[in-house]
Amino acid sequence: SALRLWGGRFAGGPAEALARLSVSVQFDWRLAPYDLAASRAHARVLSNAGLLDSDELGRMLAALDDLEAACASGEFRPTVEDEDVHTALERGLIERLGTLGGKLRAGRSRNDQVATDLRLYLRDHARGVAARLVELTEALLEQAARHLDTPAPGMTHLQHAQPVSFAHQLLAHAQPLLRDLDRLRDWDRRTAVSPLGAGALAGSSLPLDPVRVAKELGFTSAAPNSMDAVADRDFVAEFLFVAALVGVHLSRLGEEVVLWTSQEFGWVELDDAFATGSSIMPQKKNADIAELARGKSGRLIGGLVTVLTMLKGLPLTYDRDMQEDKEPAFDAVDTLELVLPALAGMISTMTVRVDRLVEAAPKGYTLATEVAEWLVRQGVPFREAHEVTGSLVALCVSRDCGLDEVSDTDLAGVSPHLTPDVRTVLDVRGALRARTTPGSTGPGPVADQLAAVGDQVETW
Ligand code: ARG
Repeated sequence: SALRLWGGRFAGGPAEALARLSVSVQFDWRLAPYDLAASRAHARVLSNAGLLDSDELGRMLAALDDLEAACASGEFRPTVEDEDVHTALERGLIERLGTLGGKLRAGRSRNDQVATDLRLYLRDHARGVAARLVELTEALLEQAARHLDTPAPGMTHLQHAQPVSFAHQLLAHAQPLLRDLDRLRDWDRRTAVSPLGAGALAGSSLPLDPVRVAKELGFTSAAPNSMDAVADRDFVAEFLFVAALVGVHLSRLGEEVVLWTSQEFGWVELDDAFATGSSIMPQKKNADIAELARGKSGRLIGGLVTVLTMLKGLPLTYDRDMQEDKEPAFDAVDTLELVLPALAGMISTMTVRVDRLVEAAPKGYTLATEVAEWLVRQGVPFREAHEVTGSLVALCVSRDCGLDEVSDTDLAGVSPHLTPDVRTVLDVRGALRARTTPGSTGPGPVADQLAAVGDQVETW
């Protein structure tokens, strides 16, 4: 029969329907290594408090090590009777130690245990996610380094707007990822607070040492309020927000790759290893990675909404609703660990079609602003310069020609200000070179940006 964590005041066991609803071990089992680490720290504290003698502590720690090895090898597995990871591991301990195994629960509750385990798990896995974010940033960086001199039509409203360097556009996707890395670092600082020692909600009458436990588990401090310690899931919600925002950034990058690889754009060709085909149309080459990145942002956002909604009406302190925090948190980690390496591989292996970008960059009259600014430099007020350039564009549209295909007479016909000299600015690379202010798309500032992004990922 099941080894339950309660029993004294219950006449019978739980109904099957309750047990099925209540069980979480199928998803919280992955907390086992963290639960065992917390158990080791707790055992030492019990021993310092004189609640375990040194022989008992030695046997306890040996059994925890043995159990950890058995979990890692798969020799010890949770059964259908184990409600959650904490129950399963207590069973494992009692199987190894008999009644001594039952001593470890003193001063500890699953409420402070689960909050501790989840913090440990997320802090650990956030480091992995950060490493994958760095790899994607590096992939963008490498491609950018190759395309400092490749012009592209920069867009607003998905309409050709002004020429940019393709490096600048790639780095515009790296910048949000650097902010995400910073968010993870900042999140970790707030998450490095240990709930262990809070007990169920009120702390303990036993002489525990939450500060020592916190240090042993790599936290920077112990929770200042035992009620908040077990009620707080800010660290889950905040992690999910960062994950959702990463998802949104990857989705926007994914969307651009879908556009870039389309027939109509043709800016980029994916490596075969990072593209998919069709079961019926032999010619197809699809950017499924980019689409999955875009699609999976939905579940990341959903996870955040799930946890915020679950928390919003909860009275302090622990409520069983909070068991629902784990699946979204785990799913966010799993999703990012899948998507990020695939995107990094796709970006680093894609071929940028420089010829297509060079051809596309001036299309849609992207140099019109250069003309207007040239007029400004001739002393024409911008308002008038804008009107004049607009008329020139209208003339070109009516003739289906480029700005540089208009005769001197026609230029003068549009405005006497439009002398043949205006042609000096009708050059895409010249337009890029003219941009020298920090953060702009000129080759100088983009090279500076490239170096700065490189420094930031290197020192991560
Ligand atoms: N499985 C529970 C959870 O994930 C552990 C805490 C249970 N605590 C309790 N008092 N029932 O939240």
